[in-house]
Amino acid sequence: QMARIGVTGLAVMGRNLARNLARHGHPVAVHNRTAARTKALVEEFGGEGTFLPAETAEQFVASLERPRRLVVMVKAGAPTDAVIDEFAPLLEPGDMIVDGGNAHFADTRRREAALRERGIHFVGAGISGGEEGALHGPSIMPGGSAESYEALGPLLEDIAAKVDGTPCCTHVGPDGAGHFVKMVHNGIEYSDMQLIAESYDLLRHAAGLSPAEIAEVFRTWNTGRLESYLIEITAEVLAHTDAATGEPFVDVVLDQAEQKGTGRWTVQTALDLGVPVGGIAEAVFARSVSGHADLREASRNLPGPDRAAAAGPGFADAVEKALYASKIVAYAQGFHEIQAGSAEYGWNIDAGAMATIWRGGCIIRARFLDRIRAAYEADPSTPTLLTDDHFAEALGDAQDAWREVVATAARLGIPAPGFATALAYYDSLRADRLPAALTQGQRDFFGAHTYRRVDRDGSFHTLWGGDRTEVTA
Ligand code: 6PG
Repeated sequence: QMARIGVTGLAVMGRNLARNLARHGHPVAVHNRTAARTKALVEEFGGEGTFLPAETAEQFVASLERPRRLVVMVKAGAPTDAVIDEFAPLLEPGDMIVDGGNAHFADTRRREAALRERGIHFVGAGISGGEEGALHGPSIMPGGSAESYEALGPLLEDIAAKVDGTPCCTHVGPDGAGHFVKMVHNGIEYSDMQLIAESYDLLRHAAGLSPAEIAEVFRTWNTGRLESYLIEITAEVLAHTDAATGEPFVDVVLDQAEQKGTGRWTVQTALDLGVPVGGIAEAVFARSVSGHADLREASRNLPGPDRAAAAGPGFADAVEKALYASKIVAYAQGFHEIQAGSAEYGWNIDAGAMATIWRGGCIIRARFLDRIRAAYEADPSTPTLLTDDHFAEALGDAQDAWREVVATAARLGIPAPGFATALAYYDSLRADRLPAALTQGQRDFFGAHTYRRVDRDGSFHTLWGGDRTEVTA
């Protein structure tokens, strides 16, 4: 018997993906650098479907139906290149290598171009949903050629999460498009998590609620428009008590957040593309600040405000509104980056389809994404989600509470960079005039960088060091 698809790299993500394929009736070849893992997988889960274990790369490739579909589930970076170098010589034109890791889209573009020359399809596929998602149905974001998707799409759609019967998997676009979209997904994930963290911090230190009480607040929110996986697990984490000390779990965890790089890449890429993603950037920076123990220790005795003035009743509702509004901004920024990347690299990404495949399986899955899907359906070329009827109304309804929450945070000395930057973005886009005019004046003053005028076409320069007449530049 031949395998329909193969998975090499059997750490937890690869193992669960292979099991998911087998459980769906697809004979799957399995291979790992150290054969013990392969053996363990088949021993433990062999009853779930048809596994074809291979000890060597040659055996593995020989067990695959043609065109061969080979999924690589190893660490991003050098390990991925090493596996590609090992397998590519064993493949034939028309075969496919799928990279299901969190690769940087630029690496995916490079690998795709190199393998295309040899007639091999390289599919950079973003896979979200963690271990559970890989096993029970992830959200899958495959890039690569349309031809490769024809051979691969039905299999991936079969094992992906489903929402209303629609698979959370679609062809994203050529070469690096899939990994680009996964990267932005993670950037949005960072932003979402930061906003939730700020909400918790405000409820705790401005409203004086306990972690258990805050868990209840999040449970209630999870029955409304904020319903999402991240809100759901937030309630679980906050309600958890540490067994060793009897303290709330959240109080015994070291408050230094780590990161593996996808959020940082989202911001670095946004800077290159000239896309303002303040919400994502502040989320990355907030993790960075938390990790600077020395800086925090040195600053501990800097003066803060008198915290006696606690937030009044209704504050939790205000935080819910601030969270919803800031979340709209975070997603608007993320989708802006997707559209800018798509334009830059000629990917032709369907933004509404991305919202559709994020509705289930992935970490940011949420009821809210159906709204985004609807917004792009109503106006596929909208420059920003903020102006969609539903979102504009929600922002208008939330804004007083949003401002109150940001002001309260500032007054009480509680850092809320995610809320604050989201509100500033909203107000910047709304503004009739921005002080960017003054910035242009300064640039022209010190460097003759020139400026444009509101009333005439062309570029101008004022002779600041002379008689201050204006000349055409
Ligand atoms: C997913 C996640 C996953 C990522 C974790 C951890 O979509 O399943 O995004 O790919 O590895 O979120 O990311 P950090 O370690 O950077 O927080």
